[in-house]
Amino acid sequence: MHSINKLTLGFATLFATSFSVAVIGAQSSPSTEVKLPAAAAGQYQHTAPTLADIESDSDLHPELRKVILKGRDLFMNTQQLRGEYVFNDLNCKSCHMGEGRMAWSGPVWPAATTLPDFRGKNGHVNSLEERIAGCFSFSMNGKAPEYGSDTMLAISAYHQYMAKGAKMYDKNIAGRGFNHLGNKIPEATSYANGQKVYEENCSVCHGSNGAGTKVDGTVVYPPLWGDGSYNWGAGMTRVFTAASFIQNNMPLGQPGRLSDQEAWDVAYFVNAQERPQDPRYTGDAKETREKYMNFHKATLYGTEVNGAVLGQHDNTGDKPFLKPDVLKPRSFN
Ligand code: HEC
Ligand code: HEC
Repeated sequence: MHSINKLTLGFATLFATSFSVAVIGAQSSPSTEVKLPAAAAGQYQHTAPTLADIESDSDLHPELRKVILKGRDLFMNTQQLRGEYVFNDLNCKSCHMGEGRMAWSGPVWPAATTLPDFRGKNGHVNSLEERIAGCFSFSMNGKAPEYGSDTMLAISAYHQYMAKGAKMYDKNIAGRGFNHLGNKIPEATSYANGQKVYEENCSVCHGSNGAGTKVDGTVVYPPLWGDGSYNWGAGMTRVFTAASFIQNNMPLGQPGRLSDQEAWDVAYFVNAQERPQDPRYTGDAKETREKYMNFHKATLYGTEVNGAVLGQHDNTGDKPFLKPDVLKPRSFN
């Protein structure tokens, strides 16, 4: 109880401080105002339904409402699947902020309107369930609930309901994913500056060792590296994805506070730390990098940073296996 109070106080203080800084900053210099990317001309926009909408939608059969709410609950507190399907400290909402509804924070509804589709990451046509399975395998360092199971049905029902009223198969979507900073790491990007940005803006919540903060065994601030984090195959290991996510969402509650270059630097620093093995590991990180270059060209996996090759180890974190079955290839030949 005592530690919860302390944390809450720390959190409130942090917000109070940053709020007054923002207000003072806004008066003296408009460049310190919160900035988020805007929709480009012609882009499709959709506002996903809220919890209140799910609860009040009279078109929903009560049984369906139950399933959608179950899916939402699993999305928000995915740790209830810990040890079965989830083997790190994350929840789906750790990266898909605002209940998976927020633009530029990985809103999940576009998956329901654009799938089935071909996916470069695994080279075949993916269903919505398979896309969800991808985040279980990499981001959650685990394995997917069985296709068609109650758990999978609930999670996919939540995704589909979030897309209620949205256009099918329109891919020119505003706010999809996280990336707007461009997919090339700028030459000026610096590990040392990233470390400095981290210590000044992030370690208060995510810990100086990147392990996050737990109170009585419950994750309050999620880890950014180490065994409790996403593994080397996760989308967030791509430096541009992390840089964009961070710029639009972090420090928590202060989107756009970091400059683009600071976001690149801190994303580079975070993704130059060790984490559980890529489930596609062949036994050699450089070889795995080569084999999945399409993906790993944007990560530091299998490259040398500070004298060591990142990802050259057998550590799968808390997960007692390397590769889940659902990652097996699919072919219609
Ligand atoms: C006030 C506390 C706080 C600060 C400061 C903060 N974060 Fe976070 N961060 C969070 C929380 C909480 C989440 C998960 C969001 C949720 O569950 O709603 C998160 C999620 C993340 C995630 C995605 C989830 C994960 O664990 O991989 C990344 C990456 C991240 N933060 C990076 C950063 C970086 C980099 C900074 C500094 C620029 C930073 N954060 C500052 C609280 C914070
Ligand atoms: C560590 C961060 C992280 C966590 C945790 C995470 N995801 Fe994701 N998710 C991503 C990233 C990054 C992408 C998009 C880019 C990519 O393909 O790499 C993504 C994409 C998605 C998409 C596709 C969205 C679209 O625009 O088509 C869905 C659906 C999704 N995630 C569902 C989930 C579910 C369900 C969970 C929990 C079981 C989850 N994610 C947990 C990072 C995360």
